[in-house]
Amino acid sequence: MTKDFIRRLGIDHPLLLAPMAGETAKPALAIAVSNAGALGALGGAYMAPQTLREAIRAIRAGTQRPFHINLFAPTSWTADPAKMAAYREELGQAHATLGLAGPDLPNSYEESFEAQFAVVLEEVPPVFSTTFGALAPDRVAALKSRGILVLGTATTVAEARALAQTGVDAIIAQGAEAGGHRGSFLASVEHSLVGTMALVPQIVSAVNLPVIAAGGIGDGRGIAAALCLGASAVALGTSFLLADEMALSPGYKALLQSEQAENTALTRAFSGRHARGIRNAFLDRLAGRDDIIPDFPVANAMSKAMRGAASKAGQTDYQSLWAGQAARLARPEPAAAIIARLLAEARQALQTGL
Ligand SMILES: Cc1cc2nc3c(=O)[nH]c(=O)nc-3n(C[C@H](O)[C@H](O)[C@H](O)COP(=O)(O)O)c2cc1C
Repeated sequence: MTKDFIRRLGIDHPLLLAPMAGETAKPALAIAVSNAGALGALGGAYMAPQTLREAIRAIRAGTQRPFHINLFAPTSWTADPAKMAAYREELGQAHATLGLAGPDLPNSYEESFEAQFAVVLEEVPPVFSTTFGALAPDRVAALKSRGILVLGTATTVAEARALAQTGVDAIIAQGAEAGGHRGSFLASVEHSLVGTMALVPQIVSAVNLPVIAAGGIGDGRGIAAALCLGASAVALGTSFLLADEMALSPGYKALLQSEQAENTALTRAFSGRHARGIRNAFLDRLAGRDDIIPDFPVANAMSKAMRGAASKAGQTDYQSLWAGQAARLARPEPAAAIIARLLAEARQALQTGL
């Protein structure tokens, strides 16, 4: 299915930049990856609708090749006053350390998915995906009727089946090793931590759709392994965090190249939703404190000022340092060089006989 699928995607190599929202959402990186014959991506979840529109247009202006836009499917959440008060107190200590006033309560917690989705329908990116949930079938149909290829993110076989029923064109199988937020939406995250090695072949067997493997794939050996497991393509996030086109804070980039990057954990500390990142002081302080962490996106909005100030100050103890378990395999290079190296390594790994 690999050749057919990459032909449908309009790319040269079975390689996708995984979508990454927040300070990692860079049109420049998406453009560089697409121009190198892989599929560039932009995680638009935290963008206001107009910013999302401008980002899509910026990518279009920078490449003739296909690219991929990703949003968070809407989730249900409550703004629990007791949790918010307790979490605010924790944040207060971090604010004091950073010399920051507040924390003030945010005016709003998330962008409107409806408005973001309307932009996607108007701007027609070649490929679109969601994480955190399945879209209603009529929404998938609306995307497909405009010629948009639709992907859905699954962390279990059951989620892959549910997504297949909505009419998506392919499944992103996100293993437990992956950096950033978990896409889980049917069972609890604790019951949805299937490693990429086990997840990919089971989803390939369960659904009659192309599968894109994601999570802990850090070099060509991982790409070769995923293709052998039946994946039609692979998506890499953490491997591109050190790309020259990824203007991350220097502290984050330095940590990704240190031994600390071998030590990642799942945490709700920064956003209220489980995500994998490099362990630091704030993550460790809130470990096991789910009782005081509000739901996503409430915690995410509340901790935004702390994370932003810490990033500016180079204080990595209070930043969310999203990274997957293969982070130490990442290399600081231009995106095109990363892609060329990954492909050469994968070719070599696939030629190695037993
Ligand atoms: C910094 C960062 C931000 C992420 N943001 C998103 C996002 O907005 N939407 C999404 O579907 N996945 C997001 N992810 C998950 C990736 O799309 C992908 O599943 C993951 O990076 C694959 O694992 P790897 O990091 O080990 O390569 C993010 C991952 C990272 C590292």
